[in-house]
Amino acid sequence: MIDNLHSLPDPSSIPLVALESMNDTHREEIKMVIRLGTLLAQAMEGNVDEKAISVEIAAWVEHTRHHFKRENELMLEFGFPAYPVHSGEHERILALLDELHQSWLENRSVEPLATFLFESWPEWFEMHVNTMDSITAQFINQRGGA
Ligand SMILES: [Fe+2]
Ligand SMILES: [Fe+2]
Repeated sequence: MIDNLHSLPDPSSIPLVALESMNDTHREEIKMVIRLGTLLAQAMEGNVDEKAISVEIAAWVEHTRHHFKRENELMLEFGFPAYPVHSGEHERILALLDELHQSWLENRSVEPLATFLFESWPEWFEMHVNTMDSITAQFINQRGGA
């Protein structure tokens, strides 16, 4: 069974990295995911607001695109050695989000979105922030980046 909003991270207790700009972006993202998750949880109870879901998923995908682009730029600017691995992971997740967004627009099916958001994304996010983002932020912070 799909879990509910409790599976999403709390914006006030996210894993922190050494760059405050990255932490801010991560907090913003969690707030967006909670907004979308709230709509999806309502939809699963029979109260489907397709228009609001479309707005929130589009905003989330765009935010993620900027989030990853900014991290990729920072890595290049500071010569982060594991750039191919970290940016490759961004590319993989962004392709997945684009695909989910596209299939939502085509068939307005709540379940695949809810499954991804409540079951896969929280674990992915925590793992990504605690590993690749954390190491990247530390590297950049040590070289004077902000
Ligand atoms: Fe990040
Ligand atoms: Fe990242």
